[in-house]
Amino acid sequence: MPHFISKNMFVYNNDIKHDDFVIKVMLINKRFNNLMLIPIFYNEQVFFIRCIKRAHDFLYKVDKITRPSNLLLIKKVLQFIASKLDVVAHNLNQTQNKHTRGMQLGYLINIDQLATLKPDYIEIGFGSGRHILDLAKKNPQKIVLGFEIHTPSVRQVINAIELYSLKNLFICNFDARLGIQALNTKSVETLFLHFPVPWNKAKHRRVFHRDFLENSFRILKSDGYINLRSDDYEYVLDGIKEAMSADYTHFEILKNKHIDIVSKYEARWSNMKKDIYEMHIFQHDFKQHIQDNLDSTFALPKLDRGLESLSNKKWIQDSIFISIGDVYSTQTSTHENINIANLTFGSFYMPFNTYLILDQNKELHYLKNPLRIHSHIQAHNFLCKILQDAYKEHVQMTSN
Ligand SMILES: C[S@@+](CC[C@H](N)C(=O)[O-])C[C@H]1O[C@@H](n2cnc3c(N)ncnc32)[C@H](O)[C@@H]1O
Repeated sequence: MPHFISKNMFVYNNDIKHDDFVIKVMLINKRFNNLMLIPIFYNEQVFFIRCIKRAHDFLYKVDKITRPSNLLLIKKVLQFIASKLDVVAHNLNQTQNKHTRGMQLGYLINIDQLATLKPDYIEIGFGSGRHILDLAKKNPQKIVLGFEIHTPSVRQVINAIELYSLKNLFICNFDARLGIQALNTKSVETLFLHFPVPWNKAKHRRVFHRDFLENSFRILKSDGYINLRSDDYEYVLDGIKEAMSADYTHFEILKNKHIDIVSKYEARWSNMKKDIYEMHIFQHDFKQHIQDNLDSTFALPKLDRGLESLSNKKWIQDSIFISIGDVYSTQTSTHENINIANLTFGSFYMPFNTYLILDQNKELHYLKNPLRIHSHIQAHNFLCKILQDAYKEHVQMTSN
């Protein structure tokens, strides 16, 4: 990730407009005053540059939660800040426009665009892309969607889309566990999950999980199925257990089934004479248990005081949790005080990260709105209740 180290600190008192972005007044961590956030406004987007004061220098890098997918934009902003300082090290040299090319071609899509996409095939964790590219080439009339968190693999496949002039393959550089929840369709014929990372010592990190089954069934056609292929016996056994514990599945297991396109991973395991398992998981009579209120606007109640009263606290209710982290605030005499705090919430299986912003009018907002998915709507309602209870408690205390 782009970053630089300087001898001195970026000091400014007012908003700075440069090119097509605006640098807003810095926010300082209330607990650790060596940690700062520099808000950047670009079009409709807001993201932060983190500044960390260390023993002998300052480190500047983009904040992971708000990081935009456009690396060139991040580099441009960091370069501008760096130009005002004594830089001792950096990795900000501009490369060609490879970071934005996929975006321009329209095949690299962001999570908000998923709500209107109607994919026929989905592949999760496509890696080098051999299987997904073959799928898209052989089925030009079908819409294929790939999720991958490893950015170099995403770039490689975007280049191949351009090379082969594919018009039906879309890529989302996002965690598939959340991504599939953002889809609003029942169009999927097959959801491929080939050689997922087993995470046998940290099973909660796996893609395959009971929630994943339910989320997949929501978007699969009635005769659609999950195609899981793995060399990991423990993963497959756990997959069987998960499928058995759901009362609306039937499945089949195929051992050492030959497929035409063999991925890098599969070739490695086959050369080692390992068995390969393929599991097909179908649904029958699946009805979505909970009808979500998908009209949720994610409005938050007013807060009558700073965010500190809620910071560094955790709440748990059933399978939903909420965690509010450190508070950062503006500290200039000319600017009204703005508070922000890191918020992590949702299900333990797939938490969501954003920031809560408390503006000058004591209005509370999310920096990046949650998704209109069941676990986020549940967590949002839970948060509203916590805020309302805190407000009532405060009114009672002040009236006594
Ligand atoms: C072991 S590799 C397998 C790659 C490819 N399917 C193959 O068979 O060669 C697992 C891939 O899944 C990706 N991955 C892991 N967790 C993911 C997630 N939650 N969402 C999307 N991709 C994920 C990893 O980045 C990695 O590329």
